[in-house]
Amino acid sequence: MSKYEIIDHAYDVIVVGAGGAGLRATLGMVAAGFRTACISKVYPTRSHTVAAQGGIGAALGNLDGDNWRFHMYDTVKGSDWLGDQDAIEYMCRNAIDAVIELEHFGVPFSRTPEGKIYQRPFGGHTLDFGKSMARRACAAADRTGHAILHTLYQQCLKHKAEFFSEYIALDLLNDAEGGVGGVMAWCLEDGAIHRFRAQMVVFATGGYGRAYFSCTSAHTCTGDGGAMALRAGIPLQDMEFIQFHPTGIYGSGCLITEGARGEGGYVTNSEGERFMERYAPTAKDLASRDVVSRSMAIEIREGRGVGPNKDHIHLHLEHIDPKVLAERLPGISETAKIFAGVDVTKEPIPILPTVHYNMGGIPTNYHGEVIRPKGSDKDAIVPGLMAVGEAACVSVHGANRLGTNSLLDLVVFGRAAALRAAATYKPGATLKALPADAHEPALERFDRIRNAGGKTLTADIRLEMQHTMQNNCAVFRTGKVLSEGKQLIEKAAASMSDLKVVDKSLVWNSDLVEALELDNLMAQAVVTMHSAEARHESRGAHAHEDHPNRDDVNWMKHTLAYRDAAGKVSLDYRPVHMYTLTDETEVIPPKERVY
Ligand code: FUM
Repeated sequence: MSKYEIIDHAYDVIVVGAGGAGLRATLGMVAAGFRTACISKVYPTRSHTVAAQGGIGAALGNLDGDNWRFHMYDTVKGSDWLGDQDAIEYMCRNAIDAVIELEHFGVPFSRTPEGKIYQRPFGGHTLDFGKSMARRACAAADRTGHAILHTLYQQCLKHKAEFFSEYIALDLLNDAEGGVGGVMAWCLEDGAIHRFRAQMVVFATGGYGRAYFSCTSAHTCTGDGGAMALRAGIPLQDMEFIQFHPTGIYGSGCLITEGARGEGGYVTNSEGERFMERYAPTAKDLASRDVVSRSMAIEIREGRGVGPNKDHIHLHLEHIDPKVLAERLPGISETAKIFAGVDVTKEPIPILPTVHYNMGGIPTNYHGEVIRPKGSDKDAIVPGLMAVGEAACVSVHGANRLGTNSLLDLVVFGRAAALRAAATYKPGATLKALPADAHEPALERFDRIRNAGGKTLTADIRLEMQHTMQNNCAVFRTGKVLSEGKQLIEKAAASMSDLKVVDKSLVWNSDLVEALELDNLMAQAVVTMHSAEARHESRGAHAHEDHPNRDDVNWMKHTLAYRDAAGKVSLDYRPVHMYTLTDETEVIPPKERVY
């Protein structure tokens, strides 16, 4: 019997996370008549979507002859044929309406002289199935995420969605039949424990970039939903695919948008060479992210890095008209000044590939329903649980996400989840009964971590985990490095038994928040390393030097990683969906991926 007093709530839908995906799902749910509460560990407009810069992808064709089928082709190719083609068709086809809808909601997009939404080129975005570069990234200067997040929050408030801000979700409430009936949470402000029961829980908890030492992600990006799913016995899919963004600022890791190259920026090595011309003769600096990051890593490894230690690369914007920089790239001009001391109108920005995005996550179908994959196309859904955004793996990004498809994924699948809930659930329906002790596992874990009386501080274990991920699961991997990584990450995970939480209080206890987040990060770091070690091929962001080629015969399949209560990891696989939803497009068969 728990020693914590519990405050009870009942809703139709609980959305966990208030980034772009969480807010779009929340908005759709309230608009469909569901009594909806959104729980967020930060105030909604501080969610990490606010940091998205360059744009949201949609084949509006405002500045060229774009078509959603070209967008689909680019996305499948960008995914290195690991993306599910039914879901990719759904996303690219719905992108156009999703962006127009955002415009109508009030997103202040930049404009063309004719007043249309401004669109810029981005990596891997092409016309006519790869023939020339497209202008597909719909941008609000270089603050697109900020514009979208604030607009969606205002829309949610207008529709009277309820918010529980600065509440930490602890764990799911499971029913006796393998479904979900709510979630437990801890309120930071007054320390109270809350039980949120609902017909449907939607995880929109984002990625786990902070498992790495250097990333573009906020400190809050600890993948809490992914860890809660693992603890509920749900596998995580394709966790080995970690995206390194080519242009993180050297040292701080702050993002410099790919839109900078979309506006004409380019990268050089210590010889002043525009080396991307060698690696991607057609797309050059606008090749797909994994390609640019690998090319940079090779240049540095072969001694052509810049700086006294020859350990980074230069991004040039100084040839671009200062008026264009001020109008289209004001945010990164400021970031470069603050974090690199660089005036972008005069000198290059020092950059390095930096962890940016998790292609893997909680497996779902294109309705946002969480699935328990069965190794066939007949996957069972987990009743009462959805996942959207970076927390989920639909999978539209496969082995490598194209820039701008992240903001798109948030709004398309946030909306899809609400449409599915409206089709399958009824507002106000009686909530299913839960076992009387359904909340106990969540509170036992909370209490165990709160009272952790070992000798090692959260910060020390976290650093060990982050260095291990950074060193052993990076842009390039080898069998030796990955198998050493497995041992090191298991050692770091084992050291959680010696965790020391200094502050035992319940109110505004950031020591405890960080310990809970570390526990979540660690579980995902462990399954990431296991998944990476097991994949013996190179595909998208997984560049395995012992197996340099893609192997479609043996490896065109999704990884599923389970971690049991004792911490033991097991892996399974499921097929990639090589079918489309309609006959308005065709399956794109695998071929060599060149840019
Ligand atoms: O470079 C960027 O602006 C990032 C965009 C994205 O990750 O989609």
